[in-house]
Amino acid sequence: MTQKLDLTVELAKTIMLFGSLKGEKARWGNTPMPDFKLEHCKEVGRVARVIAEACGLDGDKAEIFGLLHDVGCHQDMSAFHEIDGYKRLLELGVDEEHASICLKHTYLNGDLNCGNGKPLLLQDGSINPERTSFPWRNKEDEEIFRNLKNRVYSDYDYIVCLVDKMVSEKLMGFSERMDELAVRYGKDLSQVKYHRQNCERLLLGIETKMGCTMQDLFPELRSGAALESSK
Ligand SMILES: [Fe+2]
Repeated sequence: MTQKLDLTVELAKTIMLFGSLKGEKARWGNTPMPDFKLEHCKEVGRVARVIAEACGLDGDKAEIFGLLHDVGCHQDMSAFHEIDGYKRLLELGVDEEHASICLKHTYLNGDLNCGNGKPLLLQDGSINPERTSFPWRNKEDEEIFRNLKNRVYSDYDYIVCLVDKMVSEKLMGFSERMDELAVRYGKDLSQVKYHRQNCERLLLGIETKMGCTMQDLFPELRSGAALESSK
């Protein structure tokens, strides 16, 4: 049985940079994580810490969640990065709470349809025949994804879900980043709108918790950048 890791920010940085525990090339990483993704993870960690501390939460824990959320990109930049990151973190001894941010960060409230692009599931739970790709490759993966709806999202999960929508390589603000994602992944505009509305709700909830706006916290954001569409 794998020994459980006592995660620190430093250790999370090593895992994020190398996909391993010791600063060596990960045995599962066929392709190194691209530089822009490394920058993205670092920045998501930094911004998540600031927001968590403004909410009276643990800054270290938020930064660790942010650093680790895209670690599956060491293996695959495609849809599978979510499941690869989750499984590999568990293999390294990371606990379920931290590992599951890899699965959760793309979908709000465990709703597999609350992401960018065409909906995955139809109302009866069957797979949308219009989808040409899924974030699972086999039954085991599919079961993990379908169980996502039973997972509880913590404040740290929600913060990283949101910060992922505010950061490209650098903090750019919510609207610009959502526009960027819509261009990259959005093939179904109604779906993009649904995802965006849920992200906006999340943003407002976190701002209420902080007692200030994102722009108060990050003056580098242009005026109104938090919500106003750049289009
Ligand atoms: Fe991300």
